[in-house]
Amino acid sequence: MPQWQGTATVYRMPHDHLIEMLDLDTEVLHDYHRELVAWVGREAPDHPRVVDLGAGSGTGSLALARELAGAQVTAVDVDPEMLAHLRAKVDAAGLADRIHTRTADLDQPWPDFGPTDVIWAASAMHHMADPEGALAEAFKALGTGGLLVIAELDSFPRFLSGTPDEDVEERGHAALDRLRHEAGMHMHEDWGDRARHAGFHTVTRRRFDIDLRPPLPAPAPRYAEVVLHRMRDRLDGLLSTADLARLAAPRGDISVRTTRTVWLARR
Ligand SMILES: C[S@@+](CC[C@H](N)C(=O)[O-])C[C@H]1O[C@@H](n2cnc3c(N)ncnc32)[C@H](O)[C@@H]1O
Repeated sequence: MPQWQGTATVYRMPHDHLIEMLDLDTEVLHDYHRELVAWVGREAPDHPRVVDLGAGSGTGSLALARELAGAQVTAVDVDPEMLAHLRAKVDAAGLADRIHTRTADLDQPWPDFGPTDVIWAASAMHHMADPEGALAEAFKALGTGGLLVIAELDSFPRFLSGTPDEDVEERGHAALDRLRHEAGMHMHEDWGDRARHAGFHTVTRRRFDIDLRPPLPAPAPRYAEVVLHRMRDRLDGLLSTADLARLAAPRGDISVRTTRTVWLARR
């Protein structure tokens, strides 16, 4: 049955799949992630102090620490299990002196993160039960000229476009969109508008339309398998058994299509 339970903050899923999916997303959409971090690097000051909101498995924290010279990163998440995984990756990468973790519920008044130049929120704002409160906290946490980066998904990845099973994937996404809406998740928001309301100015918006066709990056089939598996779990009881079986069929005809929107806002 669906695993969204009423409010945005109690969105739950098995950790191993979520962690693997977040890591694979960065590997498969490598060009998008690299371009995004490079863009932030051009806008951020030298040696930036970065706070990564809803840091998850740590892909953003690691990329920012690697690409932004001298960056110090505080990775924040409500979920200690996520942060334990993140810390292990940070240690393995030899970045323990540059990335620190902090457990916090960002729907509550924020702890003091110290002087902050960049706040990075990738696929995190839609989880906030109170996005207005979170943006007000971000405004308070940043110094004048500080940078807020919000990256969100407009459309979740599609793998079956142009295949005989494209229709069932689309119906599955439509059903999941309805569940997210009912659970109060903040998808498809104009985060630029919301940031301006919170006091930010100079908001820049970029949309990234990602359309990967064969030859695909090597981890793409596993990424498709993990995402479609999670979809099937949540769609149990919402799609027919025959439709669910079509999502499960092993296949060699996938592509990867998704849309991401990023807002850069200045304090
Ligand atoms: C979809 S994941 C995104 C992870 C990461 N930013 C990325 O782009 O791969 C969302 C993360 O936000 C965290 N999260 C959700 N609600 C939160 C809250 N109220 N306070 C702090 N973290 C939260 C979740 O635990 C999860 O790790």
